[in-house]
Amino acid sequence: EISLGLVGSEMCIRDRDKNQELVNRRKASHLGGGEQRIARQHEQGKLTARERVILLLDEGSFQEIGQFVEHRATSFGLDKNKIPGDGVVTGFGTIHGRLIYVFSQDFTVLGGSLSETHAAKICRVMDLAVKNGAPIIGLNDSGGARIQEGVVSLAGYADIFYRNTRASGVIPQLSVIMGPCAGGAVYSPALTDFVMMVEDTSYMFVTGPNVVKTVTHEEVSSEDLGGAKAHAEKSGVNHFTASNDVEALKKVRDLITYMPQNANELAPNPTKFEFTNSKLSTINDVLPENSTLPYDIRKVVECVIDDNSFREVHEDFAKNIVVGFARIEGKTIGVVANQPAAMAGVLDIDSSRKGARFVRFCDSFNIPLLVFEDVPGFLPGTDQEWRGIITHGAKLLYAFCEATVPRITVITRKAYGGAFDVMNSKSIGADLNFAWPTAEIAVMGAKGAAEIIFKREINEAADPQAKWLEKEAEYAEMFANPYRAAERGIVDDVILPSETRAKVIAGFKMLENKAETLPYKKHGNIPL
Ligand code: HXC
Repeated sequence: EISLGLVGSEMCIRDRDKNQELVNRRKASHLGGGEQRIARQHEQGKLTARERVILLLDEGSFQEIGQFVEHRATSFGLDKNKIPGDGVVTGFGTIHGRLIYVFSQDFTVLGGSLSETHAAKICRVMDLAVKNGAPIIGLNDSGGARIQEGVVSLAGYADIFYRNTRASGVIPQLSVIMGPCAGGAVYSPALTDFVMMVEDTSYMFVTGPNVVKTVTHEEVSSEDLGGAKAHAEKSGVNHFTASNDVEALKKVRDLITYMPQNANELAPNPTKFEFTNSKLSTINDVLPENSTLPYDIRKVVECVIDDNSFREVHEDFAKNIVVGFARIEGKTIGVVANQPAAMAGVLDIDSSRKGARFVRFCDSFNIPLLVFEDVPGFLPGTDQEWRGIITHGAKLLYAFCEATVPRITVITRKAYGGAFDVMNSKSIGADLNFAWPTAEIAVMGAKGAAEIIFKREINEAADPQAKWLEKEAEYAEMFANPYRAAERGIVDDVILPSETRAKVIAGFKMLENKAETLPYKKHGNIPL
């Protein structure tokens, strides 16, 4: 009965029954931009804003706020084009029984574009989320600022950015990109803790392919410029990739179980966990005999944590460091691990940024940190130096130094140079440091060290090469082991790989009531 063009104040209500009026208004709101646009959304492999909310939250838990809100714009015929809800579905519900706030942009309504009122609806749920200490999840699918509204929609974005920043470190904020996200609109997700992108149907960029072509003469598709893969592998903007909407929403439901509701709480404890005991012996065989050969640190991680509990973050970005959530006896921890299988686990600009961001999330939200260390040092070269490895490497150092959550380090093999200090050493506040018998803890590798400190002896020897080898062996004998560090208390214990899980469990139990506060400050000045 209701023509979609005649809603809101002009709506012709034939049925005088007040309840029926409400039912009709709800229907109109639920229909968004109408059947045709919904069909187009489905044809593109995308769900509608409402379908997404329903799948994200526990069945029947969604409570909508603001479904009759309409925009107030009049220019360019907008006064004749009002859809209740104004292109964003907002409200609250639960995920696994825990309170969650949500907004979901409706592309069928003016391309999900952000108007003054659309922004106000998002701000309202953000404010409620902060006041009530619960995570907020944004499902983004929008053509950006509502062009017909001009500056008020820009101000609306700024209202959201401001709240994203103020809420940072107070409640977890997750962004799922399920359609376009262009221009300044990208900065709201960028300010949140995690970004998840859906393959093929989502993209993020500050300027699209047309502008890129005009300005830089580069020809690039939306997907190559700002698709899920590009941001997962190249820029690191995207933390998680999903192959479709349903998978994305499932992944978010799972991810949120690793996080507390807010900065004053701990992550929930699932009551049940499983651990395959045979992993206690498998772990002995992960490292290769030859200490110069690579291995996958994730195999070590898997042997220490609860079965199937690892959720890798930034899986495809800066693979030389592995970060992610895991559980130990059902409790959430954050894992940071050098990855010898990629660039020998060296620290470079991207891996430092990746590690630092994750460490800061965990510290903000009371998630203990478990670090696995096998790092030959920082990556040398003009590219790294000129792009600022000094500043970026300092981010990881800073993040560990300021973290007050329980922190345990396990050195599996190499711990060389400045990278030893950076990777959660005790001097920068780690609570417990363990080393495996295979650990090598020194200022640098034996070959380079011998070359420097025995330079004259090597040069003056009858056979310099033989002398070098002899001195290299001497240095290695001295430092390529964990015992010099253990003698000085720089590592707390040398442990067998098979003992790692038990040591880590006991360590985190001992640290359960750790209470450490930072000196009073407005905020620190992390080297950005
Ligand atoms: C108003 C918009 C809109 C917008 C799309 N629509 N974007 N309406 N403001 N920003 C409307 C279209 O008119 C159309 O309406 C419907 O949404 C669907 O759009 P289509 O173009 O048909 O869809 P599609 O082909 O899938 O293309 C999607 C798109 C394209 C790539 C997003 O619409 C597009 O380029 N839009 C403009 C993007 C843009 O430049 N936004 C401003 C960015 S600047 P009908 O009625 O036909 O269904 C910005 C600044 C933010 O956002 C700054 C913050 C600091």
